[in-house]
Amino acid sequence: MTAKLIDGKAIAASLRAELAARIAKLTEAGARKPGLAVVLVGEDPASQVYVGSKVKQTTEIGMLSIEHRLPAETTEATLLALVAKLNADPTIDGILVQLPLPAHIDADKVIEAITPGKDVDGFHPVNVGRLSTGGRAFVPCTPRGSMKLIKSVRENLSGLHAVVVGRSNIVGKPMLQLLLAENCTVTVAHSRTKDLAETCRQADILVAAVGRPRLLNETHVKPGAIVIDVGINRIADPATGKNKLVGDVDFDRVAPVAGAITPVPGGVGPMTIACLLENTLESYEAQTKKSGRFDAVTEWICASGNIQP
Ligand code: GUN
Repeated sequence: MTAKLIDGKAIAASLRAELAARIAKLTEAGARKPGLAVVLVGEDPASQVYVGSKVKQTTEIGMLSIEHRLPAETTEATLLALVAKLNADPTIDGILVQLPLPAHIDADKVIEAITPGKDVDGFHPVNVGRLSTGGRAFVPCTPRGSMKLIKSVRENLSGLHAVVVGRSNIVGKPMLQLLLAENCTVTVAHSRTKDLAETCRQADILVAAVGRPRLLNETHVKPGAIVIDVGINRIADPATGKNKLVGDVDFDRVAPVAGAITPVPGGVGPMTIACLLENTLESYEAQTKKSGRFDAVTEWICASGNIQP
């Protein structure tokens, strides 16, 4: 293997340690803990695993973790009432409603009900808009973590060609904004892109976020490229008969060609929760200082009557 392995597990652990030290300093001085509320509706097995990890890591770094597990038949009105309660709760700095939600609940409506100043997922249209106009905003956790991994290899990305494969609201689109803000030339490829391999081969930075197991191989990678694999796909392993996790990149075929590459698991995955915790701490700092970057936005939204403060 020639590529440098980007160790997301270690980078996430060091970010969590840094956050824990910042929180310890605050609480030792008598301040309240930052608080993160996580809401899970239904019994989706993957969501249960994610939420369990979020709660565990939140507590481990010294934050207050509030967990709401609601049955699958919970009404939209009940969920909206809970979000309103969390919006108004002064001990809560971040609110995360785990997606996907059951089909009878309008996920957009729920996301828009979260006050933008506590939207640590960065999914609210106010945060999405502010990210795209270069304003300060909560940045979605997976793209934020992916950028940190890219920066661990190379600090100055100016003028590099980045290709993002996938155009989801959670990863592809915010990734485009973050790379653009770093002065990259960005191409967003997707399922209708005509010659995917040829497009990807132009990339100095290749970000795969399509959810298709091992879609990208050595024919998609320019020698020396930085390859970030956001995919987490469960497939049956013929060798063991059990399920295993693989990315959107065929690691064994790409590693000899790439300059640096993230593994799956142990690459982008651990960074997502670490960045959620970082967003929550930044929200806390903004809320407690009362001069934070989100206060004006939150007040504006509440004044518009769309959201209960
Ligand atoms: N489901 C899968 N990823 C995410 C995420 O980052 N945030 C939320 N809220 N739900 C998810």
